Amino acid sequence: MSSPVGIPVSTGSVSYEVVVDSGLLATTGERVRQVSDARYCALATDENVHALFGELVAGSLRDAGFTVAEVVVPAGERSKAWDRAGEVLEHLAKAGLERTDLVVALGGGVIGDLAGFCAAVYLRGINYIQLPTTLLAQVDSSVGGKTGVDLKAGKNLAGSFKQPLLVLADTDVLATLPLLEWQSGLAEVAKVAMLAGPEQVEWMTRHADALAGREPAAVRDAVLSAVGHKIDVVSQDEREAGLRESLNYGHTLGHAIERVAGYGSVPHGVAVAEGMRFAARLASRLLGAPAETGAVQDAMLDALCIARPSYPGDVDALVRAMHADKKARSGTVRFTLVPEPGSYVAVPVGDDVLAAELRGWIDHSNERG
Ligand SMILES: NC(=O)c1ccc[n+]([C@@H]2O[C@H](COP(=O)([O-])OP(=O)(O)OC[C@H]3O[C@@H](n4cnc5c(N)ncnc54)[C@H](O)[C@@H]3O)[C@@H](O)[C@H]2O)c1
Repeated sequence: MSSPVGIPVSTGSVSYEVVVDSGLLATTGERVRQVSDARYCALATDENVHALFGELVAGSLRDAGFTVAEVVVPAGERSKAWDRAGEVLEHLAKAGLERTDLVVALGGGVIGDLAGFCAAVYLRGINYIQLPTTLLAQVDSSVGGKTGVDLKAGKNLAGSFKQPLLVLADTDVLATLPLLEWQSGLAEVAKVAMLAGPEQVEWMTRHADALAGREPAAVRDAVLSAVGHKIDVVSQDEREAGLRESLNYGHTLGHAIERVAGYGSVPHGVAVAEGMRFAARLASRLLGAPAETGAVQDAMLDALCIARPSYPGDVDALVRAMHADKKARSGTVRFTLVPEPGSYVAVPVGDDVLAAELRGWIDHSNERG
């Protein structure tokens, strides 16, 4: 048996722990009790996750003396909405949660972002705990304190920075994750590997089969390493003033593909991986990065069997979508580029260059079939 690894996160404003291990969910109550004297807690989750783990977690919280109000929303991005946040907030008020009480977010990134946002604004802010149940949430969204909801005008346009009190990542729960969700998480782990350095890229490529088979030891190591990297980044840059921008690697084009294709038609991980491939080409063309960088990245993504998308719409639509992303600064689209594994640079790319490079890339991709 492995022992749980607790990684401390210390941002300028708070400190908390991210614990990674198998079998953690059953110990939720006692672990939450160690960090909170709350009487009430709202257990926020989605319908799928509730059916799988709701009773286990609610029971564990009750055993530790919490009065639990369950707030269950439909699964999927559509629940990350302003109206839904209003309903969750009404639930918190109806359950009588006070300033010292807690929100416990059990689910993927949608639940973490939605419940975290509600915790950030309810009574001007109460504590919340993250119990991430997707690979993406365990390595990325549960850590760092970005919470929020989508608006009709775009994704994540309303939100708040609110750090959790504790994160418990139980790697056992990943066994039931649908394949596409698993692959989306793997793309984020691959992204982090490129930012972390050549050893991590090599490790991912070598363990690709074990990861595809979700072998527990490989999964745990991958989660620990990826979340460890995210913790390093957010500890140094809580509010995305600089270093945190590196985590956008692959996301500039990735988000645009998702948006133009219509959310839900291209899996997030497939879009991000494609964004990484295009970013490697930009790094080579704009920064003279060695061809080796794109080659090792391709080898890793191919070994992980992350599919390539067909391109939606036209190049102009993709460029417009990149502008709509809130990360465009002063009207110029910015790309995080990785000239070599372990180093990154964020560069503004003008529309003409971007459109020409994208056109070339799509032609090149179509030729390769
Ligand atoms: N806050 C951040 O820093 C941050 C970072 C990255 C992404 N995000 C956000 O995260 C969201 C995506 O999160 P996601 O990919 O986790 O999606 P998600 O929360 O929608 O979960 C994906 C699907 O998997 C199901 N599911 C969850 N855990 C399961 C399990 N263990 N077994 C079986 N099914 C399970 C869910 O019910 C859902 O249907 C997006 O809204 C994105 O904007 C936030």
